[in-house]
Amino acid sequence: MPKAIQIQQFGGPEQLQLVEVSVGEPGPGEVRIRHYACGLNFIDIYQRTGLYQGALPLTLGMEAAGVVEAVGEGVMHLRPGQRVAYASQPPGAYCEVRVMPARCVVELPDGIDFETGAAMMLKGLTVQYLLRKTQPQGGLQEGDHVLFHAAAGGVGLIACQWARAMGLQLIGTAGSDEKCALAREMGAAHVINYNKEDFVARVKEITGGRGVKVVYDSIGKETWERSLECLRPLGLMVSYGNASGPVPPISLATLAAKGSLYVTRPTLFTHLATRESTQAMADDLFDMVGSGRVKIRIDQRYRLAEVAQAHRDLEARKTTGSSVLLP
Ligand SMILES: NC(=O)c1ccc[n+]([C@@H]2O[C@H](COP(=O)([O-])OP(=O)(O)OC[C@H]3O[C@@H](n4cnc5c(N)ncnc54)[C@H](OP(=O)(O)O)[C@@H]3O)[C@@H](O)[C@H]2O)c1
Repeated sequence: MPKAIQIQQFGGPEQLQLVEVSVGEPGPGEVRIRHYACGLNFIDIYQRTGLYQGALPLTLGMEAAGVVEAVGEGVMHLRPGQRVAYASQPPGAYCEVRVMPARCVVELPDGIDFETGAAMMLKGLTVQYLLRKTQPQGGLQEGDHVLFHAAAGGVGLIACQWARAMGLQLIGTAGSDEKCALAREMGAAHVINYNKEDFVARVKEITGGRGVKVVYDSIGKETWERSLECLRPLGLMVSYGNASGPVPPISLATLAAKGSLYVTRPTLFTHLATRESTQAMADDLFDMVGSGRVKIRIDQRYRLAEVAQAHRDLEARKTTGSSVLLP
């Protein structure tokens, strides 16, 4: 029987159990995929702890690459034997084989191997919608400064390179000098070690006192207030994650007082709502990677059965770039 990683209850990494599962035939609109590599993402931690609640028992994982084994009725864009990858709801990617909705699954270009595919779909599609579609009023122009937290992480290192390709001046924050050096090497125009430096003061210094047009904040609770301080009037706060805990309730009056600020709390899965939008975003990502403008760094590899260690490392801020789990 194929193996999968499930939780029976919410909690720490010790809840992640290797189990055997039966996987049937795909129904209408579904596909069965054999995974060759699965991606590790911070959202898996939110789902494991119960910050984001799913029905139990739950197989975690939102990203993988592999080969199509069978397609259900009505699935026209996939065929058995095809190499594919996805970032998708519902969770269930931490496994050898699964049946899932075909809508979010796309063909993986020949030049992209399975590990890279599994390391880039959720994180790369996130950067695609953040930098291309989640822009401040008036858009982003070459030379504009943007502030991007956790710039040496999985999403962060892709963002550094993508922003450079767009001609943006990305100011990246990270928690150590080594991580800052990595973000710089991968395309950040400026880096700030936010464990040592006051990032608000540094952003003001870098932007000549004006502040940035947009902040991409995935840290949440610990950075929210100071991130607002980095924005210029009419700037956009993109709060898209909660690595340090959820953002506490806010008063809308704060946004007025700081200069008619805009705030959005987006999620990738809104952008992946249709097969057409998923394919268009994936085509953009594949083009960025295929052309070499964005390189996917896999800095950690684990066996699927070692997933608890992978979660501990990600939570303890020990990782850089992407991590993959190998079934
Ligand atoms: N809304 C969406 O559509 C969407 C989609 C994908 C990802 N995300 C979010 O994007 C973020 C990055 O995801 P990822 O998978 O690429 O993870 P990651 O950036 O590789 O890892 C998270 C990083 O956050 C930083 N961090 C700051 N405070 C932390 C804390 N208290 N605990 C743990 N880490 C902390 C750490 O970097 P430093 O040591 O440098 O501080 C850590 O390495 C996550 O918040 C995730 O939820 C959101």
